[in-house]
Amino acid sequence: MRGAEHSNDRIPFLDFGGMHDPLKEAFMDSLSQFLDTKWYVLGNAVRQFESAYAQFIGQQHSVGVSSGMAALHLALRAAGIGPGDEVIVPANTYIATWLAVSYVGAKLVPVDPDPVTGNFSAELVARALTPASRAIIPVHLYGMPCPMDELMALADRHQLWVIEDNAQAHGATVGIRRTGSFGHLNAHSFYPTKVLGALGEAGAITTDDHELADQLCILRNYGQRKRYENEVIGYNYRLDEIQATFLNVKMHHLANWIAERRQLANTYHQGLQDLEGLRLPPVIPGLNHVYHLYVIHSDQRDELQQWLSEKKIETIVHYPKPPHRQSAYAQDNWPERAFPVANRLAATCLSLPLYIGMPASHQMRVIEAIQAFWKRRN
Ligand SMILES: Cc1ncc(COP(=O)(O)O)c(C=O)c1O
Repeated sequence: MRGAEHSNDRIPFLDFGGMHDPLKEAFMDSLSQFLDTKWYVLGNAVRQFESAYAQFIGQQHSVGVSSGMAALHLALRAAGIGPGDEVIVPANTYIATWLAVSYVGAKLVPVDPDPVTGNFSAELVARALTPASRAIIPVHLYGMPCPMDELMALADRHQLWVIEDNAQAHGATVGIRRTGSFGHLNAHSFYPTKVLGALGEAGAITTDDHELADQLCILRNYGQRKRYENEVIGYNYRLDEIQATFLNVKMHHLANWIAERRQLANTYHQGLQDLEGLRLPPVIPGLNHVYHLYVIHSDQRDELQQWLSEKKIETIVHYPKPPHRQSAYAQDNWPERAFPVANRLAATCLSLPLYIGMPASHQMRVIEAIQAFWKRRN
């Protein structure tokens, strides 16, 4: 996918072509097999994907669901979290992490993140504990892993549930172990833009606990184990068979895609590391980032984004407003000065284009444009 490019081409933030175009035939073949089965809901494709994904993550069970949002919600339901319970969440995350806690009626206890990693640290979480704490949801934001060994040790000491939000981090590792394999229940999103994405909506929960996996299978399917016998109030959160069909094709390429993302990130690191005041994604031994997003931080974020836009380079801000400043949570009345680190990260972050098949010449243009911005500034 690194064909002839022109110096004034628009550089998109994301282009699925490099990933999906070469798979067109494989997608069509597997769709044709799907049509032949005439089994449209919770069939072979879902089972095959669940088994392959559990193996990839390194857990006994993977339960396919309809989205990452559904995965977080079901994980909290399976853990029995509800009103009166406190759940510790990062102040800087995508809104889904918070919404899941709201869905089960538990109390959100946001923690301002570590300013360097942008994630939970065990020390920060420990400070937020109260006698009502029941669970923590570490989010491996942008694909940067949280320090899971320390967080699991803390959770063990305080008998807390750990639900990893691994929506953005398929393939990230802590040491040699994959994120999404540490917590008691772990939520994964396969939204198309993710490291492993469906061609629509999909998600999964992984766990090593057989009984929890059983509960999750019931909860995703109207609370029934036997048809028309509803044991609990469940949902229709089933993973779609067609999405599982696509995911099965894509699973074979995941390891290569993870390696390519890391290579692209390394090229950005090399090209941008000497620009004073520009903060690159943290490199911390043992915490191996997978670069779902390559996010830089600058006090002149808005000017830099405008500069890049004038050079036809598309960038995105993930995320302009943390959940506590969204109208959806206005009733919580967070004080103006709450969560200063999350606010500051939101004001300075900028995600650069990074996708499978990104032409080397395009990446060079992004690097040179940022270098030129710095030169002009100084
Ligand atoms: C951190 C995080 N958690 C949860 C989700 C929810 O996933 P989905 O969009 O599949 O519902 C997302 C992404 O969209 C996410 O980025």
